[in-house]
Amino acid sequence: MKTEPLLDIHRIDVYRGDTQVFADFSLQIERGCSTAILGPNGSGKTTFLKLFSRELHPAAGSKGESWIKSYGRELWNVWELRKRFGIVSHELQERYLAGTIGREVILSGYHSSVGTSVRQEFSREQSRQAEEIMDRLEITRLAERPFGSMSTGEQRRFLLGRALIHDPEVLLLDEPTAGLDLKAAAGYFAILHKLMQQGKTVLLVTHHIHEILPGIERVVLLKSGSVLTDGPKPDILSSPWLSRLYDMQIEVHESQGYYYAVPNMDFTPPSD
Ligand SMILES: Nc1ncnc2c1ncn2[C@@H]1O[C@H](COP(=O)(O)OP(=O)(O)OP(=O)(O)O)[C@@H](O)[C@H]1O
Ligand SMILES: [Mg+2]
Repeated sequence: MKTEPLLDIHRIDVYRGDTQVFADFSLQIERGCSTAILGPNGSGKTTFLKLFSRELHPAAGSKGESWIKSYGRELWNVWELRKRFGIVSHELQERYLAGTIGREVILSGYHSSVGTSVRQEFSREQSRQAEEIMDRLEITRLAERPFGSMSTGEQRRFLLGRALIHDPEVLLLDEPTAGLDLKAAAGYFAILHKLMQQGKTVLLVTHHIHEILPGIERVVLLKSGSVLTDGPKPDILSSPWLSRLYDMQIEVHESQGYYYAVPNMDFTPPSD
């Protein structure tokens, strides 16, 4: 039996404020296929992830037959749907109250909330799960520390822990290593690598192509709200495609399944 795609977006229009981000946009994400989305600032990557998590919706009356289906279904109770995803983004990081302690950041994932409140109760099993995740991410020593007093890298680990609390099938990661030093970013990606080996599907938005781990099979290039190209990683992470994506000459090197991009600083893009 053919499994339904994780996400099937068909011919939608999306506006944010007065800006039309997507026009007649379609894209499918298959189950079990970790995918990276690459594109210049403003190309629509975060907007796409927000459609995925249903924080944003297409404009009513998108052309003809249009839909967003998750696991083959258009209609979902969003709380049920969100249990299947874990999300890490800077926006989420900014929304956290500085006073929320580490353990509560992790536990808040149970209710997909920002922080916990006295009305939320957690079972012994849920608390045990939170401890186990902190142990796995090596952040137990920060369990009582207020979020606002943690470094960016520490905060990012707590958000990953929060995203893992439902043991979701899919992780949506919007520039997860932005602001992290080299070692912290490498540590973060070592954890992601392990999670992918354990069967998690990752949907990664990044500006750093060396972060597109060997386990990520597919790459989608987004440019000005359209899919420039999409396919197996070795075909897409090439000098011609990346040069077209960024309108500048870019050399691409590959070593042991990792890719590196080197922009040619002398290149002047042709004027239209
Ligand atoms: N709240 C908003 N109101 C109006 N326009 C917005 C809003 N949020 C985003 N946009 C616009 O939508 C477009 C796509 O934004 P989006 O955040 O999806 O880009 P992105 O690819 O994630 O960029 P970046 O790499 O800088 O994170 C941009 O032109 C942006 O200015
Ligand atoms: Mg973004």
